[in-house]
Amino acid sequence: MDEHDGESPLADGRVTTDEPLAGGGAPDVYGATVDRYTAFSGTILSEAVETSTDLEALGRFVDGTADGATVVDLGAGVGRASAWIAARAGRRDITPWAIEPSPVMVMAARRIHPWLRCDVGWADAVPSTDSAVDAVVAWYSIIHTPAEGLAAIWAELARVLRPGGRVLLAFASGGGEVVRRDDVGGSGLALVAHRHRVDTVTDGLASVGFVVGDVVSRPAAHPHEDGPQTIVTAVLGPG
Ligand SMILES: C[S@@+](CC[C@H](N)C(=O)[O-])C[C@H]1O[C@@H](n2cnc3c(N)ncnc32)[C@H](O)[C@@H]1O
Repeated sequence: MDEHDGESPLADGRVTTDEPLAGGGAPDVYGATVDRYTAFSGTILSEAVETSTDLEALGRFVDGTADGATVVDLGAGVGRASAWIAARAGRRDITPWAIEPSPVMVMAARRIHPWLRCDVGWADAVPSTDSAVDAVVAWYSIIHTPAEGLAAIWAELARVLRPGGRVLLAFASGGGEVVRRDDVGGSGLALVAHRHRVDTVTDGLASVGFVVGDVVSRPAAHPHEDGPQTIVTAVLGPG
C-alpha cells in the first residue's frame, strides 16, 4: 500500500515536485492523520488494501519462520502487519515486535492491539542489540526514505538480524520517482514517497551480505495504488 488514504491517485493536491515540505517528516504526517489512516487501512492487513498476491508472499514468509522467532514489523504504523503475522502464525510460537518512528502511531498501535509489543524506532535505528532478530518485515515503510538513505537501512538490517535471519520488504516500485501529496488528510502537511527501483533494493541488500530470494512484482490493483508494487525477500549470509 503506497497511498495514505482512499483518495484517487489523480486527486488534486498530489504532485511530483522537489519543493521543500511544509511539515515534518513522514512519521509526523502519519501521526497527525492516524485516525484517518486507520479508518482507511484498517487494523490488520487485508485484501481491501493489499492483494492476495501480497498476502500469499507474506504468508510464505511467516510459514518459513522458525518457532520461537521474533519478527520485527519495521515501520509498523498501527500494527496492521503485526496483527496479520500473529493471525497467520496461529498457535505457533512466533512473536511480532512492532517498531514505528511516530510516537502517536505507537500509542495507537498499543491501544488497538494491547497484546502487541510496540516501541519507537526507525528503520535505520532499531532498538535491538546486534544479531538478535530472527526476521524483519518492512511493509511499505521504506517508501519514505530516498534512495540515497537506503544504505543506512540495509546496514541496520544486517546489524540486528542473526546470520540466516530473513527480511521481507514490500514497497511501491518504479524508476525512482518521487511522489508528493500536499495537505494529506486535511492536515496541511505534505507526504513524500519514493518509488524505488527493484534493483536498487536487491543490490543494496546484496551489498551488506544478504542473499536475495523471491522477488514478486505486480501491477497496481487498487485505486489507492499509482503503480507497481514489489515484495522482496532475502536471507542474511553468514558474514
Ligand atoms: C505506508 S505506512 C505503512 C504502515 C504499516 N506498515 C502498514 O502497512 O499499515 C508507512 C509507515 O512507515 C513509517 N516510516 C516512515 N519513515 C520511516 C523510517 N525511516 N523508518 C521506519 N518507519 C518509517 C511511517 O511512520 C508509517 O507508519
